[in-house]
Amino acid sequence: SAAEKLSICCIGAGYVGGPTMAMIAKQCPDIRVTVVDINQARIDAWNSDKLPIYEPGLQEVVEEARGRNLFFSTNVADSIRDAKMIFISVNTPTKTYGIGAGRAANLEFVERCARMIAEHSDSGHKIIVEKSTLPVRTAEAVKRILASSARPGVSFDVLSNPEFLAEGTAVEDLLAPDRVLIGGESRDAVQTLVDVYGRWVPREQILTTNLWSSELSKLTANAFLAQRVSSINAISALCEATEADVDEVASAIGTDSRIGPKFLKASVGFGGSCFQKDILNLVYLCEHFGLPEVAAYWEQVVQMNDYQKQRFTRRIVKTMFNTVSNKRIAVWGFAFKKDTNDTRESAAIYVCRDLLEERAKLTIYDPKVGIEQIKSELAYVMQNDPARYGGDVEKLIDENVTVADSALAAAEGAHGVALLTEWDEFKQLDFQKVYQSMQKPAFLFDGRNLLHHRNLTEIGFEVHAIGKLC
Ligand code: UDX
Ligand code: UDX
Ligand code: ADP
Repeated sequence: SAAEKLSICCIGAGYVGGPTMAMIAKQCPDIRVTVVDINQARIDAWNSDKLPIYEPGLQEVVEEARGRNLFFSTNVADSIRDAKMIFISVNTPTKTYGIGAGRAANLEFVERCARMIAEHSDSGHKIIVEKSTLPVRTAEAVKRILASSARPGVSFDVLSNPEFLAEGTAVEDLLAPDRVLIGGESRDAVQTLVDVYGRWVPREQILTTNLWSSELSKLTANAFLAQRVSSINAISALCEATEADVDEVASAIGTDSRIGPKFLKASVGFGGSCFQKDILNLVYLCEHFGLPEVAAYWEQVVQMNDYQKQRFTRRIVKTMFNTVSNKRIAVWGFAFKKDTNDTRESAAIYVCRDLLEERAKLTIYDPKVGIEQIKSELAYVMQNDPARYGGDVEKLIDENVTVADSALAAAEGAHGVALLTEWDEFKQLDFQKVYQSMQKPAFLFDGRNLLHHRNLTEIGFEVHAIGKLC
């Protein structure tokens, strides 16, 4: 009954599950929220002063609710048993093997969750909420697994409630979302979740749809957003050929209210755990449903992004007299965007890989990403094709990649700087000092159009940016 107290369990304490549950717990002090994960180290970090993910403002939200009505635990079984509503927020990486490899979502973690939920639910009714981004009609599979293994007297409803937060602004996005989307079949179940978000999100911003529309909207939103970045990046290549300036073009088109000003920043390429994965997923779905033209249309967004990353590296090599072999290049920023420590699919990984293939020596600095993470990302993409890099990938990385503890230190003695993440602190550097410490000509490749190029040119740098002449 409605009078019964709601208790929530979330399976998966990652970038999505952690912050989302912390916000629900903050806003709803009477709802007990337990976040569970099989990764003990991650749970320990959530219970410490050093959270496993960096998000501005998150520490405060967690501290307000933790121990009051927000708990982090590895006890999955008990938490499932005690909860009336269970969010599934586990990772759904791209499949790396078998049918659909490189495109389809790997749903083994989701399936395992559904089976655990069925196993550990011993009475009454539970609402299962898909929070992870999933291919359309996954709810069907989740429902069937739950129904086929449920104990007698136990019943389930399945809802889709995709998360739209962006990393780096997770707390803001959760506090004031553009909308909350809830898809489901049972009116009561949908209403129960509407009532949770309704504590702080205006009702008109809580959209309810059928299950399949909700699942598809998440993939579509990410595909549209990524498409805007690929579109402006495609235009940036044309700008470089024509002396148009991509930032001027972006602001000129962005004033058309039908286009809008946001998400038109040309860059070295989009990254993050979502865009590429979700588009490839969409492509796979289209192929599966016999729509090859639609699949090809969306796949081009990813291809344009790969082109943009390669184009950037080629430009560095070409500019630096067609060779970077044994030259030191400072890399400023390794995260896929500012204000996050997340490096999944970061453009920096691919730019660094290609520079290493050209035998450059890299000194990397990122304010939130450490050496182990950088090396493991590079090893991961290079291990697929070791022959390309001359065999022993880990050795190659150890010998040619170092990490500095400031942007200035990274640039010292370097032949060139590649700025790959738009961290605010890069704008405030003493560029006179940077210039003096570098080899000459001092090349600076601004992969984010972040810096004041005219000032840099006046200091003496040779500046190359995206989609404009400097
Ligand atoms: C367009 C541009 O809008 C305008 O800025 C430019 O100066 C000239 O080209 P126009 O072709 O007159 O204007 O009409 P527009 O409203 O853009 O529609 C173009 C076509 O797209 C129409 O066939 C319209 O039916 C279609 N359309 C538009 C859709 O199918 N869906 C939409 O959401 C919008
Ligand atoms: C994205 C969606 O924005 C979010 O709604 C969804 O829930 C998850 O995926 P996220 O990946 O965290 O969020 O970051 P986002 O801000 O969308 O940036 C994605 C990538 O695109 C970053 O590498 C960013 O640098 C790049 N980008 C973004 C650009 O290159 N130019 C832009 O104009 C915007
Ligand atoms: P996202 O960005 O979608 O939040 P993450 O990879 O950051 O993805 O987080 C997903 C989390 O889900 C990981 O911490 C992982 O350990 C956890 N996880 C995966 N499978 C299970 C499972 N069966 N039970 C509990 N936790 C799981």
